[in-house]
Amino acid sequence: MNSIPPVLPVCFLKLILIISIAFVTNVSATDTPLTSTDAKKIWEKSCFTCHGDSGDMARNFLKVVDGELQGPLHKDTFRMFLTNHYLSKPKAEAIYAMLLTQANAKSRFEKECSSCHQKATDLVRDKLVLHNGVLYNKNSKQVTYNFLQTHRNLKQEDVKFFMRKLTFLGYEIYQPIKLQ
Ligand code: HEC
Ligand code: HEC
Repeated sequence: MNSIPPVLPVCFLKLILIISIAFVTNVSATDTPLTSTDAKKIWEKSCFTCHGDSGDMARNFLKVVDGELQGPLHKDTFRMFLTNHYLSKPKAEAIYAMLLTQANAKSRFEKECSSCHQKATDLVRDKLVLHNGVLYNKNSKQVTYNFLQTHRNLKQEDVKFFMRKLTFLGYEIYQPIKLQ
């Protein structure tokens, strides 16, 4: 029987940002200079280990407000955060531009689920409920993780992907953490 791994302590925001560590094995600690500011290469080399795919991160965790990127923790200080977070200024600019493009792109949820479910937040608010860190379908009381295994022929990787997104929203909706 599949169940959700028992994660999800208090600081869920931080956790979800680094949750992909669990899925990555290849850690590269060396920092040899790059020849160009190819944002994708920089990401693969210096960020992927902790954050996984940049597109997933941008679409799921970052918001575009008045054309500017905001993170879940760093809103108005997002650009400054990037330059202090494993990056020099020119590299931070390149990464910023890439994340902005990706955050603006259609999310996987929009592409694969919206024809029937419209917005992910509405799906979570109306149909799901978070109990002890586990998402359940409200009506059937079934664990959503198990439900998704049999929904829409999703592959195991896809089930994990959508569960991350839905659980993250579940926390935002049912157990919001107040950040000052
Ligand atoms: C060693 C792990 C690690 C690496 C490597 C790493 N990060 Fe992070 N990152 C974190 C953690 C932990 C957080 C949670 C926020 C914090 O406490 O700083 C975070 C948060 C973020 C956020 C969200 C900021 C917000 O507003 O909440 C972004 C964007 C980000 N990192 C981008 C990057 C980029 C770009 C790189 C590569 C240059 C990178 N990270 C490399 C661990 C890492
Ligand atoms: C073709 C329409 C369709 C698409 C596309 C679709 N769903 Fe569904 N979904 C349904 C229907 C109908 C239900 C009602 C429950 C059932 O299937 O028995 C449902 C139920 C659900 C539920 C449980 C909510 C409840 O009512 O208990 C979740 C979670 C869910 N879908 C997630 C997704 C995700 C994630 C995607 C995208 C990968 C997706 N769905 C794509 C039709 C769809």
